[in-house]
Amino acid sequence: MEIDIRVFDSVDSTNKVLSQMAREGAEDGRVVVAWKQTEGRGRLGRTFESPEGGIYMSILLPLEDTLRLTAKAGLAVKRAIISETDKRCQIKWVNDIIYNGKKVAGILAQVCDNHVVLGIGINFCTPEKAFSNEIRNTAISLYKNGADADSDPMDLVNAIIRELENVFTEEERLWLGEYKASSCLIGKKVKVIQADKVVGEGEVTEIDNNCALHIIISGTETVFNTGEVTIREKI
Ligand code: BTN
Repeated sequence: MEIDIRVFDSVDSTNKVLSQMAREGAEDGRVVVAWKQTEGRGRLGRTFESPEGGIYMSILLPLEDTLRLTAKAGLAVKRAIISETDKRCQIKWVNDIIYNGKKVAGILAQVCDNHVVLGIGINFCTPEKAFSNEIRNTAISLYKNGADADSDPMDLVNAIIRELENVFTEEERLWLGEYKASSCLIGKKVKVIQADKVVGEGEVTEIDNNCALHIIISGTETVFNTGEVTIREKI
């Protein structure tokens, strides 16, 4: 797959721009990077706050199960952040990257015709005051601000692409094993939320080979393929 990167200062949403490019014939490997988004999209129809200081990127990929792709992307982002910035982070099933107990990056995979648009948003050197009150307690940046950043955001973009290529060519047992080991949820008490409602509460036992989350709820092991979790104790 040939990588073809297009960089913009600001777009509405890199997922939206890349989907349009795909409809106009762009090939897998096309990457859209922006340093600001005016209509950043998150999972479950939410907004993804995308002020200056962040890295917003989308990659066009061949069609694949979005749960597994999101897991692979989570691992690639985690590896890239560690290699480029030396900041230790973990993965909160299925798509959040956690640094110092807060969300530093999110991933949104959207199917577009026979491709997947894989969107990755990273709070790179976003100043705290650029986040809304709503997320200020739960969001964090890799660096406090631009002056604090001692790595180049474009190096992180390239590292993510490299790590994605690595994960795609690795044996499943390797990337899946590392994905499971990178989870901050195993053994934690969590609430599972689907369509804005708490649908279960219990202890996480494992992430299985389909990247589904297993939780013991009232003594019964329940498997989740979708939804999101909140942790009842500090990560
Ligand atoms: C989430 O955490 O809910 C997913 C966030 C995904 C955000 C990225 S930023 C780049 C790409 N463009 C978007 O509009 N969304 C994704």
